[in-house]
Amino acid sequence: SASSTADGVAVVGSGLIGRSWAMLFASGGFRVKLYDIEQQQVTGALDTIRKEMKLLEQSGALKGSLGAEEQLALISGCSDLREAVEGTVHIQECVPENLELKQQLFAQLDQIVDGNVVLSSSSSCLLPSKLFAGLVHVRQCLVAHPVNPPYHVPLVELVPHPETAPATMDRTYALMRQIGQSPVRILKEVDGFALNRLQYALIGEAWRLVEAGIVSPGDLDLVMSDGLGLRYAFIGPLETMHLNAEGMLSYCDRYREGMKRVLKTFGPIPEFSGAVAEKVHQAMCVKVPDDPEHLAARREWRDGCLMRLAKLKGQVQPP
Ligand code: NAI
Repeated sequence: SASSTADGVAVVGSGLIGRSWAMLFASGGFRVKLYDIEQQQVTGALDTIRKEMKLLEQSGALKGSLGAEEQLALISGCSDLREAVEGTVHIQECVPENLELKQQLFAQLDQIVDGNVVLSSSSSCLLPSKLFAGLVHVRQCLVAHPVNPPYHVPLVELVPHPETAPATMDRTYALMRQIGQSPVRILKEVDGFALNRLQYALIGEAWRLVEAGIVSPGDLDLVMSDGLGLRYAFIGPLETMHLNAEGMLSYCDRYREGMKRVLKTFGPIPEFSGAVAEKVHQAMCVKVPDDPEHLAARREWRDGCLMRLAKLKGQVQPP
């Protein structure tokens, strides 16, 4: 059967991110062992995955060429770490964002694995030099940072330890492409990687504009969702420069002084607390009250939008 011949992947930690990785690997035809320290958690995760895959199939948004039942047959729960990682080509760690916990887990894995498997962490902010310090198999280690919700937002940041082998980056890059994700190579580790550095630059200036009373919180979000964000779903900020003049050099010639003048007026790092936080919170709650039901409904709406956008992006790929 397909499940006995397919390459195997282990997912360690079956929370929000672990479940998404399991679904993505299964969509690419990989056999997935899902491990968690809580046996209950694995059982619940398999249940949730079944429901989600059925819904995705019904709405025509299931990834990959296999049906939901075939993909579900590829995923099995596992309560023994050694058994979970046995014979796998890739281990995706998805335990809570806690350095000591992750270090302990990688030290444990370091003693179990051979020289072939890739050890990959989903960490959003911990640096590879901290996560993988002192491991025998450090050449096989890297961070593969997904974006929430990973099933609908394909970007994955690959971040190496200074000693990570180029082959480890290459293999993981190819694996991510195989499961339909969009990998990027972060060539040297840096706090926040690339995505969060860009995100925090935006959040910082958004906060300062609201704090200074220049724009309301609701209008600030519209600047992105009805403005910049529309083209950023298709072309990045650098290509935007290239297209908004007669090429990049022409853009720099035309706008460098203006950009530098404005950039010089950026304020200090906001506190993200106190009266401004209260004000922004209240404004957000007008649209989306912060009780679990309203938040969940809004996330579901967001994911539906992202699914339709993914379909559109598939249709409009340039030749
Ligand atoms: P979560 O709390 O939903 O799931 C963590 C799971 O790990 C739980 O099921 C827990 O029982 C299990 N666990 C705890 N200790 C374990 C151990 N020693 N061995 C095996 N399993 C263990 O967390 P979530 O949101 O899935 O995050 C996981 C990782 O993914 C974190 O590093 C986080 O920074 C990263 N990440 C999270 C994103 C998000 O938006 N939630 C986005 C991108 C990355």
